[in-house]
Amino acid sequence: MSTASPSPQRFLTGITTTGTPHLGNFVGSIRPSVAASRLPGVQSFYFLADYHALIKCDDPARIQRSTLEIAASWLAAGLDPERVTFYRQSDVPEITEFTWLLTCVTGKGVLNRAHAYKAAVDKNQATGNDPDADVTAGLFMYPVLMGADILMFKAHKVPVGRDQIQHIEMARDMAQRFNHLYGEHLVLPEAVVEESVALLPGLDGRKMSKSYDNTIPLFTPRDQLRKLIAGIVTDSRAPGEPKEVEGSALFQIYQAFASEPETAALRQAYADGISWGDAKQLLFERVEQEVAPMRERYHAMLNDPAHIEALLQAGADKARAVATPLMRELRHAVGLRSLGALPAAAAKSKAAKAAAPTFKQYREKDSRFYFKLLDADARLLLQSQGFESPRDAAMAISNLQKEGPAALVTLQGQVEVAQGITDIELAAALRFFTAAHA
Ligand code: TRP
Repeated sequence: MSTASPSPQRFLTGITTTGTPHLGNFVGSIRPSVAASRLPGVQSFYFLADYHALIKCDDPARIQRSTLEIAASWLAAGLDPERVTFYRQSDVPEITEFTWLLTCVTGKGVLNRAHAYKAAVDKNQATGNDPDADVTAGLFMYPVLMGADILMFKAHKVPVGRDQIQHIEMARDMAQRFNHLYGEHLVLPEAVVEESVALLPGLDGRKMSKSYDNTIPLFTPRDQLRKLIAGIVTDSRAPGEPKEVEGSALFQIYQAFASEPETAALRQAYADGISWGDAKQLLFERVEQEVAPMRERYHAMLNDPAHIEALLQAGADKARAVATPLMRELRHAVGLRSLGALPAAAAKSKAAKAAAPTFKQYREKDSRFYFKLLDADARLLLQSQGFESPRDAAMAISNLQKEGPAALVTLQGQVEVAQGITDIELAAALRFFTAAHA
């Protein structure tokens, strides 16, 4: 059994491949993950969760496009595929195989309580629909697939957003239950929620999110970036009027990109009554400064998808070097085992029978019941006389089998040692039966 907490801390996180990364994804996930992957003593597993994407999206072209864009974004942001195991979930078939093993140790009631599923049910109930209307089994099983993602690689830490904490706790429970049933095979993971990473507000001041349609795409062209930033909501304070940093989306986005002194300078400018137009220009310049070099790398990569594919394949090889042996171990643990490895119970007893002495019972023309003892080579060792009933013959056999040569004394006159058979040979044959009775 291998609990094997490998001494470096293993971080793992997945990125669902629907959509195009925006500034919120960059600040909340890509940037801190790339930074974490450079820390000493850290092993990082980052993957494109394309199986998860199928739960939300049935547009094949979009899944493929998003996989390309997200991979290119992470690489452009400085992810080093030499250092990090960077792979695509669907290139590791062990993950779906493992999902089934975990499915069988996960309570259905637990999945009923998963946020994403519950939200769908609540929505249906609010509108008077069947609770499970338009809910796929994929959505229901989402946490189990995610558990397999995490446990397959024995991750210790899983950096995620707040909304995912419940899933990590479920993965932990699955690991615990599996270990309880089958031995210590899996590592219990922990969620890591970056407290210091503020949620980035979007154009309308709410959390930047695809579902609010208020995002700024990470690699939107320069002119488009300027335009989008110009559209960020502000209040109606005129130039020269002091402005509040509290609740200012513009300020919060600036803060996510700027150094502390830069942020302090903007805070002062707010107090001094900077115009919203000038503040937006500052924000645009600061974001552009950070994004421009990455944008260039990003477009170079988009123009060479074969290169990204090769990197992902190399990543899948590294991932499978971990997943394949663990999956083999887990299959064995649950009893999905090769029969060839068994000490061939059936075959063995057959062979043993052929090689063992045997009693044969039969009836003669005189209507009496006889038996004889043959050795492994079918040589006659012992011959009985005729018994009245088969029961009497069976009793005599039973005595010989239980008591061995000692029974010959009481059976005197009823059995006869065959010619040329020594006491030693007979005793050896009978020991075969007495040993079984011992
Ligand atoms: N469900 C995660 C999200 O939507 C993505 C994901 C899939 C993931 N598998 C994972 C995250 C495993 C962490 C670990 O954000």
